[in-house]
Amino acid sequence: MVNITDVWKGFGLNKVLKGVTLNIEKGETMVIIGRSGCGKSILLKHIIGLMKPERGKIEVFDQDITRMNEQSMQAIRKRFGMLFQGAALFDSLNVAENVGFFLFEHTNTKKSQIMKIVSEKLKLVGLSGVEYLMPSDLSGGMRKRVGLARAIAASPEIILYDEPTTGLDPILAANINKLIKELQAKLSLTSIIVTHDMTSAYTIADRIAMLYDGKIIEIGTPEKIKNTHHPVVQQFITGSAEGPIISD
Ligand SMILES: Nc1ncnc2c1ncn2[C@@H]1O[C@H](COP(=O)(O)OP(=O)(O)O)[C@@H](O)[C@H]1O
Ligand SMILES: [Mg+2]
Repeated sequence: MVNITDVWKGFGLNKVLKGVTLNIEKGETMVIIGRSGCGKSILLKHIIGLMKPERGKIEVFDQDITRMNEQSMQAIRKRFGMLFQGAALFDSLNVAENVGFFLFEHTNTKKSQIMKIVSEKLKLVGLSGVEYLMPSDLSGGMRKRVGLARAIAASPEIILYDEPTTGLDPILAANINKLIKELQAKLSLTSIIVTHDMTSAYTIADRIAMLYDGKIIEIGTPEKIKNTHHPVVQQFITGSAEGPIISD
């Protein structure tokens, strides 16, 4: 579904991705872990063509998007759902307008039909009857759910989540994890989730990949990752601040 081969990307002297290779299968939930600033968000931006690699190749839906122009890229991007870090809702639009935003703006779908889809998606995230509330009326957890409903509104084949549980308290985070799993099961999506929260990673992943020093240094099932012998991965997953291995 997504094939990333030897991708390099830097900003001046700051070399961020230094030969990332990662293949994501159709229907799987891939969690990408790594320290803050290691390039996780950058990697997601390459997958949806918002950034282009200096070297390497990116294929999505069996199409090479490495050098694809913006117009063709937009057609591909329609097949993605995205929940970005901090996923802000549009404050001046109500919940229905937020969830249906893409459908209202980029399709000719009739309003009545969009409203039907919006209700359906809100129901999927456990929020029925909030269509006419404004974002300011919602709690943090509800906003996340609305963001999720918006991400799935156009029935994507792949959904990308950037730090979906960051900034939430543990109970809300657990709720969002549960929801991500439920959506995965109900919609048979391919999901790519970036996080530095290991509890989330273990709960939702089919496979976990660790990004470190510009490369994927380990990949496998949660079980495999838990039992890793790789010192850097061990240090990350146990949250150990000791040892000289990971330096800032
Ligand atoms: N648009 C940009 N221009 C220059 N540097 C950037 C840009 N976006 C990110 N970076 C740098 O790339 C590195 C990785 O960023 P990011 O992918 O956001 O990390 P994270 O793993 O926390 O998501 C950081 O050092 C960041 O400062
Ligand atoms: Mg990030």
